[in-house]
Amino acid sequence: MAAMVMKQSTNIEDFELVVNLIRKFADGFHHAKEEDLLFPKMGEKGFSPVQGPVAVMLHEHVQGRNYVKGMADGIARLRGGESGAINDIYQNLAGYAQLLQSHIGKENNILFRMADQALSAEEQAGLLEQFAAVEQQLDSEYNAENSIAKIEKLAATYL
Ligand SMILES: [Fe+2]
Ligand SMILES: [Fe+2]
Repeated sequence: MAAMVMKQSTNIEDFELVVNLIRKFADGFHHAKEEDLLFPKMGEKGFSPVQGPVAVMLHEHVQGRNYVKGMADGIARLRGGESGAINDIYQNLAGYAQLLQSHIGKENNILFRMADQALSAEEQAGLLEQFAAVEQQLDSEYNAENSIAKIEKLAATYL
């Protein structure tokens, strides 16, 4: 994906929205489906959680959470009147964006293809049912439909 040009913002509410979207939707829903359901299922097929492709994905989820923590810390400092914190927020935003683009590429092109080969049609159908059950438990404000609407609104403003 080409590098994105972001308009700089000082809108704290929008920064907070980005953190909430990542924590509740990207991490709380998407990564939860991977970590709680898909990766353990792949574990049954011999994919180790401590080395190899699944381990790399888990490690990148942790790196992502660290960037989000950096954003949240920056927002708290900005709220406290420290205007220089905006640079840290942007550094963490940029780091997260870069990490996630590469992460998604690895999953789509490598990991999910391996999972597709390793899991039977019945196993895949079972996972889909479990994914749907997870979505039912989401905070409705951050379910897939509402999260995507919020993301599109942010994109229209800043991209
Ligand atoms: Fe992932
Ligand atoms: Fe993913």
